[in-house]
Amino acid sequence: MDKIALGRTGLQVSRIALGGYPFGGLNRANNWDPWSAEGRKIAIATINRALDLGVNYIDTAPAYGKGNSETLIGEVMKTRRDECVLATKVKWEGYSKQATIDSVHDSLRRLHTERLDLVQFHGGMFTHEEYRHIVDGGPLDGLLELQQAGKIGFIGLTTEEPWTARPFLKHTEIAVLQLAYNFIYQSAARNVLDEAQAAGTGVVTMRTMTSGILQRAARYIAPEWLEHSNLYEICLKFVLSDSRVHSAIVGMRWPEEVDRNVALVETFKPALDFAVLPRMTAHVYEAEDTE
Ligand SMILES: NC(=O)c1ccc[n+]([C@@H]2O[C@H](COP(=O)([O-])OP(=O)(O)OC[C@H]3O[C@@H](n4cnc5c(N)ncnc54)[C@H](OP(=O)(O)O)[C@@H]3O)[C@@H](O)[C@H]2O)c1
Repeated sequence: MDKIALGRTGLQVSRIALGGYPFGGLNRANNWDPWSAEGRKIAIATINRALDLGVNYIDTAPAYGKGNSETLIGEVMKTRRDECVLATKVKWEGYSKQATIDSVHDSLRRLHTERLDLVQFHGGMFTHEEYRHIVDGGPLDGLLELQQAGKIGFIGLTTEEPWTARPFLKHTEIAVLQLAYNFIYQSAARNVLDEAQAAGTGVVTMRTMTSGILQRAARYIAPEWLEHSNLYEICLKFVLSDSRVHSAIVGMRWPEEVDRNVALVETFKPALDFAVLPRMTAHVYEAEDTE
């Protein structure tokens, strides 16, 4: 699979990344239990399938199943660590410098590795006070110390509300942004992606498939879409069409899902760079007139 530089980190990553949430989340309706022997077996098969097919970016977090996601990925890392860019996260709310360092050491143990390529502050929406706490109150110093010690390669940040990540862009230590950006939530397109690109920040999407929200809503308001279209495919194509995005993280539980998504990524050629997709009414009118 083709690789792309993750912004100024220079890390070479596949355009699709394996999301770690499913390995920490129970879903009885779909007979999914990543703590059971059977669930663990499937999860490990999925992780292996992703690596086999050239998906070389894995994203996880201590919060996913209280370490279960990291532990499952760690099983595979025992033998395949050098085949991927490994990213995890750290909480920051109420965390001191030492608590940040301790959390990363716990992740390193669970993931069976001496070094993480990327550790991200696990965020939602950052207020100014929260931003100040991260950069001045200990958490960033903790990650910088780990970076200097060679325990982590790069520092990043994850956000549900992309515009609240803007103040962090001026901190050159923060090299990667993981943000919510998908077919139905496009705030990032206008509020942070240009700035991130200008700063050379690596950009990866979370909730790439809308976390199933679009698909669930369609069941009620447009069931015919589910019959006649593949909304997952549309969501993946949407994100892959934006040149400001380096990699799309996708939650995949079953090896067959990896197969389907990899096949799409390998064959899809965007017809238009959605970085220039008009999103203001005036710009839509202008684009129509031009066409
Ligand atoms: N930093 C954060 O706060 C944060 C927040 C959310 C997500 N994330 C990261 O981003 C990753 C992805 O987000 P997400 O898991 O919320 O949602 P997502 O990737 O938007 O959607 C995952 C869903 O898509 C389905 N799916 C994927 N490929 C499919 C295919 N080819 N056909 C049919 N269904 C398909 C999966 O189905 P099944 O469930 O049936 O397998 C799963 O339900 C997470 O795992 C995590 O690593 C981070």
